Amino acid sequence: MQTSNALDPQSPQARAIYDLAIPSTIIFALIFVIVTGAIIYAILRFRGRAGEPDPKQIPGNRKVEIAWTIIPFLIVILLLAMTISAMNRADPPPAPSPDLVVTGHQFWWQVDYPASGVITANEIHIPTGKPLSVRLESKDVLHEFWVPELTRKMSNVPGQPNHIWLQADKPGTYIGQCSEFCGTQHAWMRILVVADEPSKFEEWQRAQLQPGQAATSDATAKGLALFQTSTCINCHAIRGVAGADLRVAPDLTHVGSRRQLGAGILENTPANMRLWLKSPQHIKPGALMPDFNFTDEQLDQLSAYLSTLQ
Ligand code: CUA
Repeated sequence: MQTSNALDPQSPQARAIYDLAIPSTIIFALIFVIVTGAIIYAILRFRGRAGEPDPKQIPGNRKVEIAWTIIPFLIVILLLAMTISAMNRADPPPAPSPDLVVTGHQFWWQVDYPASGVITANEIHIPTGKPLSVRLESKDVLHEFWVPELTRKMSNVPGQPNHIWLQADKPGTYIGQCSEFCGTQHAWMRILVVADEPSKFEEWQRAQLQPGQAATSDATAKGLALFQTSTCINCHAIRGVAGADLRVAPDLTHVGSRRQLGAGILENTPANMRLWLKSPQHIKPGALMPDFNFTDEQLDQLSAYLSTLQ
């Protein structure tokens, strides 16, 4: 499974944070070594020994006192300047309207592209080289959006939108994770960022704007009918399917094109889709999708239909 590495920045924003973290850590380490070294030296060199007279008493030393006031002051000013510069690079003010709105839910992420109208879940496609203004929201409890290689951490707070800039230097996939405990399946609230060349991103966006694939075989038609007559449509939307326009749960218009299911818990294959539909509460206990006790035949039909939604 792909992992993320906060020490491997892949965007100007993440690099700004890295460029602050490494020098500050070196400065703190040096201070630690110098102070503890001086203490250990003083303990060993000046320890009291039996029979020795008391050491000479010194009332104060102006030069030393000025030095140990000015040096820390300058270090703090330096750290302040570095921090302000990093904040300006990593976290400039938001754009007037967001390019992306990412909403935390128990236990998945809704991803809206307001300009184009694309809606997806858990998998965020972005064009390389372009900073995207991202508004972070939550539908229920506190979540926290974090893709370590690309951007800073930021809380998704119900009723209080927050903001980050999301960008990737080069094409690739980047793993993120909800990093604020939000309930039983907090650990399975992964974020997959897929960065593509702008032309490839546009292609993806055009495909996502299409309505859901119509049923093309007997099995998929039965799967679609099951989707409409079971309670699936009470939570899931599929554009182009009558009655399926509620978005309490992930929009499934193009669920077959996504790489993962259950916010990262399963690779998205037809077999795993069937497994997920069979018993979501076994795979992701506490997720808001209930077990429906579909028959084997129904599972075949429903998973066949959903897998065609490319
Ligand atoms: Cu959402 Cu932790």
